[in-house]
Amino acid sequence: MVVPTLLLCLISSSQPSSTAFLFKTRVAMSLTELDDQTVRSMSIGAVFSDFGGKINSLDFHRKDDLLITASEDDSVRLFDIATAKILKTTYHKKHGADRICFTHHPSSVICSSRYNLDSNAESLRYLSMYDNRCLRYFKGHKERVVSLCMSPINDSFMSGSLDHTVRIWDLRVNACQGILRLRGRPTVAYDQQGLVFAVAMEGGAIKLFDSRSYDKGPFDTFLVGGDMAEVCDIKFSNDGKSMLLTTTNNNVYVLDAYAGEKRCGFSLEPSPNTTIEATFTPDGQYVVSGSGDGTLHAWNINMRTEVSSWNSHIGVATCLKWAPRRVMFVAASSVLTFWIPNDDSKSIAAPASADAQAQSEQFTQ
Ligand SMILES: *[C@@H]1O[C@H](CO)[C@@H](O)[C@H](O)[C@H]1NC(C)=O
Ligand SMILES: *[C@@H]1O[C@H](CO)[C@@H](O)[C@H](O)[C@H]1NC(C)=O
Repeated sequence: MVVPTLLLCLISSSQPSSTAFLFKTRVAMSLTELDDQTVRSMSIGAVFSDFGGKINSLDFHRKDDLLITASEDDSVRLFDIATAKILKTTYHKKHGADRICFTHHPSSVICSSRYNLDSNAESLRYLSMYDNRCLRYFKGHKERVVSLCMSPINDSFMSGSLDHTVRIWDLRVNACQGILRLRGRPTVAYDQQGLVFAVAMEGGAIKLFDSRSYDKGPFDTFLVGGDMAEVCDIKFSNDGKSMLLTTTNNNVYVLDAYAGEKRCGFSLEPSPNTTIEATFTPDGQYVVSGSGDGTLHAWNINMRTEVSSWNSHIGVATCLKWAPRRVMFVAASSVLTFWIPNDDSKSIAAPASADAQAQSEQFTQ
């Protein structure tokens, strides 16, 4: 598993922290399944504390080792997650940066606006990070976009807004391709095949649509048993079998994505005026979530047990996502942290963990 060239480069590197980071994330990169011990060993490997405000949303590229963030300081920042380095920062003073997601291209993203949200607002922008250009504006929403996702298979994307609509778009076309009107705060997500999408609405109802014929209405509706709170985030597991819901009253549920049955549910500490994000691991076996008391938690879904809880070191983590193909997750408040396995039995990992420890202590003081 240990690659000698990486060892060499670690020893000779003038930047021990990022090279060691690369080494540590590579160690377990070929994983197909995680185990409790690896999940428990996760700890902070890199810290970015120069944001001028809260991080509103973040997204990983599906194939490349890239992360994009949108922050209250109007910045959009692109990171290389293999080396824990920032690649590019752009500022968006006119529109702000609220929800963000990658397109299929590694340097193009869709970003929703925070400012000037009148009836003719440029509420969504298709941005090129490569040359800092806006490739297209998408008009239609009359309020803030609270949920945004890109189809995993083609140029379609979806946005859910506080104006009580979900809009379906094509990256290549200015005009909206479809509208769903509904009650409450709409939250949207595609499944991993892009053939089905889920929309959460008022009363905790989850409706499933066929992407090719959503105009015919939902083909299935689930109610999250007993919980009428609004769902503020939906994610499908990679195998498509499970759905993860986070509600505005701080509950996290894992549902069977076919039958809608609740597989497990967890309660978090309340987080006034802010929503919390939870994430599946890529193997769909664990859920990791933030909490209102500034901790992070990991649960084993099959065993329905908590396997770990950590001090986030950054207060309430409102953004949390596990990287698609790595043993790594990111948690963010107004500080962005990269979490990686901290396996002290491998002496090579020691310099990096010492370094990360020093960094995490620095900003909690
Ligand atoms: C994307 O794929 C879905 C499902 O096959 C299809 O309904 C939709 O029209 C496609 N969108 C684009 C922009 O090609
Ligand atoms: C939450 O928002 C309400 C109303 O906007 C405000 O009165 C309250 O102080 C806020 N609470 C926190 C913890 O920020």
